Amino acid sequence: MHEVKGVVARAKGEPVGIETVLVPDPGPGEALVDVQACGVCHTDLHYREGGIGEDFPYLLGHEAAGVVEAVGPGVEGVSPGDFVILNWRAVCGECRSCRRGRPWYCFATHNAAQKMTLSDGTALSPALGIGAFASKTLVAAGQCTPVPRARPEAAGLLGCGIMAGLGAAMLTGEVGRGDSVAVFGCGGVGCAAIAGSVLAGATTVIGVDLDSRKLALARELGATAVVDASSEDAVARVRELTGGNGADVCIEAVGNPKVFEQAFFARDLAGTVVQVGVPTPDMKIELPMIEFFGRGGRLKPSWYGDCLPSRDFPLLIDLYLAGRLDLDRFVSETIGLGDVEAAFGRMRRGEVLRSVVVI
Ligand SMILES: NC(=O)c1ccc[n+]([C@@H]2O[C@H](COP(=O)([O-])OP(=O)(O)OC[C@H]3O[C@@H](n4cnc5c(N)ncnc54)[C@H](O)[C@@H]3O)[C@@H](O)[C@H]2O)c1
Ligand SMILES: [Zn+2]
Ligand SMILES: [Zn+2]
Repeated sequence: MHEVKGVVARAKGEPVGIETVLVPDPGPGEALVDVQACGVCHTDLHYREGGIGEDFPYLLGHEAAGVVEAVGPGVEGVSPGDFVILNWRAVCGECRSCRRGRPWYCFATHNAAQKMTLSDGTALSPALGIGAFASKTLVAAGQCTPVPRARPEAAGLLGCGIMAGLGAAMLTGEVGRGDSVAVFGCGGVGCAAIAGSVLAGATTVIGVDLDSRKLALARELGATAVVDASSEDAVARVRELTGGNGADVCIEAVGNPKVFEQAFFARDLAGTVVQVGVPTPDMKIELPMIEFFGRGGRLKPSWYGDCLPSRDFPLLIDLYLAGRLDLDRFVSETIGLGDVEAAFGRMRRGEVLRSVVVI
């Protein structure tokens, strides 16, 4: 058993705080990880607001990199000393999706079997089965993806939002050479979708946001044009910027039905809409059915960018180390464990792409 400090959300809507967390030694199929860095994601805030479930207390944090300290019996493929990015898609290899050769949709992903607890024994629910705002965490061994050593603050971001954005473009949207892409919402996820579109060979990449600071970041990450939707008609502008046709791929990275509608209508015939922003349960979309049918193409939700961590994390770290993917640009600031609540405020005010806790 290890006694560490961790960032815990005790009750709905209440500020998060640092608590003592007891972390068991790894059992069969588990790994104990020394966390080095963990990004603050919108999903952590969703947890503390009760938007994901009511299984309080939550141990937050899930975009992390670190070093494996120990593994339990029967673990293969990851060893003590390995530098790893934690993932929330530890594929089972046995569910109906894995058996059909589509492990990136795995319906039975693995998490640690043992519980981390507060010092009074209360079981913690780790965010996305990870719980990495803590100096050590216990995960399923398959949640550890070994990658070449890289700056942990940058590498850890591939564990959630940045991978989701890159994958929304490269995997779900299947952006290819010469495509035009419009990304609605240029936060961490949207800016990653922009970077992914550039990597995939798109020639027109349009960033749409309401906030001029985000539009400036979109340009830094490779957007060839930006649209300020607070003062311009986003659909009309995207059409203008794509020869009057609309973009081949429109990516919704906000989680808002109005923005989904804009993405739908800003798309060329036979184009693709990718929904990577997370909606709340009350949201509805309503569209003329003839427009859905008549425009053809595809409307695709994207969870975690349809990534396969074992395939995609090492590849993306190689691109980072080769200077072709600027993960450092997403690290707006580094903070301590005690600064997560303040980082939520900065995230809400749109001041950062990512605050990253360094442990
Ligand atoms: N699908 C997945 O696997 C996955 C993974 C991680 C995060 N997400 C989700 O992706 C979304 C974006 O995450 P993020 O970390 O980039 O958040 P963020 O808050 O950093 O970015 C959202 C951006 O959208 C902009 N925006 C808000 N309303 C807009 C509008 N009407 N038109 C245009 N732009 C608008 C904001 O100004 C902001 O820049 C969230 O819903 C998050 O939960 C999804
Ligand atoms: Zn599976
Ligand atoms: Zn996340």
